[in-house]
Amino acid sequence: MPHSVKGVVAKSKGAPVSVETIEIPDPGPGEVLVEVKACGVCHTDLHFREGAINDEFPFLLGHEAAGIVEEVGEGVVNVSPGDFVILNWRAVCGECRSCKRGRPWYCFNTHNAEQKMTLNGEPLTAALGIGAFAEKTLVAAGQATKVSSEAKPEVAGLIGCGVMAGLGAAINTGEVNRGDSVAVFGCGGVGDAAIAGSNLAGAHTIIAVDIDDRKLEMAKEFGATHTVDSSKQDPVEAIREITDGNGANVVIDAVGIPSTYEQSFFARDLAGTVVLVGVPNPEMKIELPLQEVFGRGGSLKSSWYGDCLPSRDFPMLIDLYLQGRLNLEKFVSETITLEDVEEAFHAMERGDVLRSVVII
Ligand SMILES: NC(=O)c1ccc[n+]([C@@H]2O[C@H](COP(=O)([O-])OP(=O)(O)OC[C@H]3O[C@@H](n4cnc5c(N)ncnc54)[C@H](O)[C@@H]3O)[C@@H](O)[C@H]2O)c1
Ligand SMILES: [Zn+2]
Ligand SMILES: [Zn+2]
Repeated sequence: MPHSVKGVVAKSKGAPVSVETIEIPDPGPGEVLVEVKACGVCHTDLHFREGAINDEFPFLLGHEAAGIVEEVGEGVVNVSPGDFVILNWRAVCGECRSCKRGRPWYCFNTHNAEQKMTLNGEPLTAALGIGAFAEKTLVAAGQATKVSSEAKPEVAGLIGCGVMAGLGAAINTGEVNRGDSVAVFGCGGVGDAAIAGSNLAGAHTIIAVDIDDRKLEMAKEFGATHTVDSSKQDPVEAIREITDGNGANVVIDAVGIPSTYEQSFFARDLAGTVVLVGVPNPEMKIELPLQEVFGRGGSLKSSWYGDCLPSRDFPMLIDLYLQGRLNLEKFVSETITLEDVEEAFHAMERGDVLRSVVII
């Protein structure tokens, strides 16, 4: 029997989101119905509602979630009803050319539920194939990763996107190591996770850069050793000064606009690495002196989802959290209801929050 539940829908570009009654089919083969317990508000949800990702409206938003498996479809073996799971947007296929080369964290053909959830009969596009600002959601079995139920849903869910994306940008993509210097542009949920990841990896110097002093204060709590307010001083000069005139070994752009990318490029030491994790919009372009791209050596990388492998990384991060080595609670600025998502976007735009988390 289909399930009628409440969900947060973005109907058209830039319009405020609304809570609607949506229909969810029973799980088919390889699908899982999840009772959502908590879902964080990520900037990518706002990008979807702004039409900056694609124009496949209406969207069922929300993608940073944890919940309990309610029902599984035919052939599902990785999870069972009652399991506590974090949802992921990288259900590796095992078949694409990247998976076959033994690099599933770049999987080019990740799985989502085959059946669509609907609003008044119209198919919804689930944000990142998840759609978890809803009482229940339908995902592909590989999108549900079982973790210890000792973790609270409001913190566990954050691993499903922002925390994993930021932390992975540092430790997987940027390969931050002991003794490295790191600079992070943009200290929202993603940037602060990159700071926490750099700290866990043993970075010696961690420079937080933001245009909002409140964000810089919070960044210190995640392990930033230095802060730079780039609305008041040139961040490239400031980072060079902190790193003996050299620039940082790894620079992570967790904003994703041309100016921060350019600053990241020039704030990096020779042979250093730039990691772009912030999501640009389709109109953005950058211009860089090609001679500098060549002459500085090193690498310019992009990080999708922190190059994570959910089955490997989610349980590991939950363990670190349960051991008290990764303070996920600090990311949660407020807990809210489904009705409050639109206001949470405004709080994010004002810079008032790191993460608003919907509790269902
Ligand atoms: N690559 C991925 O897999 C992935 C996953 C999740 C989110 N993201 C993206 O990461 C970005 C950050 O997400 P978030 O949820 O942390 O957003 P957020 O809005 O919470 O944080 C962004 C931060 O950047 C700061 N900022 C804005 N302009 C700046 C500038 N010019 N210089 C320095 N700092 C500036 C803001 O003050 C804020 O603290 C978004 O673009 C989001 O879409 C990427
Ligand atoms: Zn694959
Ligand atoms: Zn996200």
